[in-house]
Amino acid sequence: LDPKLAPYSTGDPASFAYLTARERWPIIITQAIDDVYRTVGASDDADKVAEGKIILAELSQLKYEVQHDRALTPIRDDGYPDVAGYNKELEQLGNLTWLKSPWLFTECYLFRRMSTSFTLSNHWKSYDVFARQKIKTFRSSRPAVLELTTRYKDLVTQLRSSASSPHDPEADKLLFTEMCEVCLWGNATDLSLLTSLTYDDIQKLQGSKARQAAEQNILVNDLPQLYAHLTAAKNDPSKKNKDRRVDIVLDNAGFELFVDLVLAGYLLSSGLATTVVLHPKSIPWFVSDVLPSDFAALLNALANPRQFYETPTEEDELQGRVPEKLTDKEVEELAFLFGEWSQFHAEGQLVLRPNRFWTGPGSFWRLPAEENELVEDLREGELVVFKGDLNYRKLVGDVAWDPTTPFTEAIGPLGPGSGLNILALRTCKADVVVGLKPGEDERLRQMEGGGGDSGARKWAWNGKWAVVSFSKGR
Ligand code: F6P
Ligand code: MG
Repeated sequence: LDPKLAPYSTGDPASFAYLTARERWPIIITQAIDDVYRTVGASDDADKVAEGKIILAELSQLKYEVQHDRALTPIRDDGYPDVAGYNKELEQLGNLTWLKSPWLFTECYLFRRMSTSFTLSNHWKSYDVFARQKIKTFRSSRPAVLELTTRYKDLVTQLRSSASSPHDPEADKLLFTEMCEVCLWGNATDLSLLTSLTYDDIQKLQGSKARQAAEQNILVNDLPQLYAHLTAAKNDPSKKNKDRRVDIVLDNAGFELFVDLVLAGYLLSSGLATTVVLHPKSIPWFVSDVLPSDFAALLNALANPRQFYETPTEEDELQGRVPEKLTDKEVEELAFLFGEWSQFHAEGQLVLRPNRFWTGPGSFWRLPAEENELVEDLREGELVVFKGDLNYRKLVGDVAWDPTTPFTEAIGPLGPGSGLNILALRTCKADVVVGLKPGEDERLRQMEGGGGDSGARKWAWNGKWAVVSFSKGR
């Protein structure tokens, strides 16, 4: 079912997998250990503390196994059916060890394995070991959130007041492009890469000037085709009064989820979609991915912005910092946003729909064969948007494609004829990339830090470059 090419491997020194497995996974597990340790320290429930200590021991063991290149062992049965799929694949792959194994499978296995320690307890079943980090980074994206909130309110107000008057088609298209690019670059800042970025760097990445400057870093940009597709559906008389749905397979919580909602809200307000279905993850995943609880936490923060932004955190207190107060205008604009989004949510136009397929071990090539119900559901919509790097890796199978391979080919059974219209909004944080013009990869490798003649595609590792690829499946 997967593409018949070599998968990227943690044993290949030229692949980002190599560094990821050796440097980043141990940090990620250590951060999880620190988090559980803090929660244990703050708890006075003896049973919970005792279970917490078992979890800590298991996480430490896991870290040891990764760092010492031990074998991947079968995942314990924690009551969820996907364990069997993971273990079956593990068996088929043969004797895998952490530092010489297919990157995609092993990284998914890592997060699935961590979640078992929690699921098998009584007191920690739904505990999100990455929640603290997610909230903290979201809070630190405050300047960009406020900037976008102002922009969003203006444009929604404008869309409403001009609903019945003639529109300038060029201006409409420009607005669409802006919203999609805001949503795209929101992916530049995921927490699993934060081990190398400071909060200052993040804030610089998020402002509107940064977005304009970054336009030239979008290597493949199919937004014009996408816009034509969505406007054709909107103007199609046979679709009048019918549902035109857009699905978004989410990536990260916090600022990225915020910009996903900006895009969702814009699509609904502009009439380019009538429903938006959001697909979150079901277990703590790749550190920062959205769980249903993150969606609730975001709306909650918007509903009580003063409390969220003005209450000093533990860290503020340690450093004697007092968070800046929000202005009345800022509070009023955030309330507008909350009102809009919670109304869409209440009226069923903005829906959250989890599915365990998204946290499976393999590529999305398997979707039509393995998840008939899910694929049928997705076919009902006009468009499925896949956010982020990991979703992109799963779309193209995380194998060593020639970078000039057309996107429509690299997504295999999800391509033309599949009945699915697919958009990938991805900032590059891994090796695999497709759809480039001939010579482009070579040019980028020759730039500073691009990898040169080392055989490594280093330019594609840090979220600086992006691809926006569209495939029309019907
Ligand atoms: O290597 C970077 C990485 O951690 C990959 O392992 C993973 O694909 C990605 O980042 C996660 O990024 P995103 O949140 O954009 O999917
Ligand atoms: Mg992610």
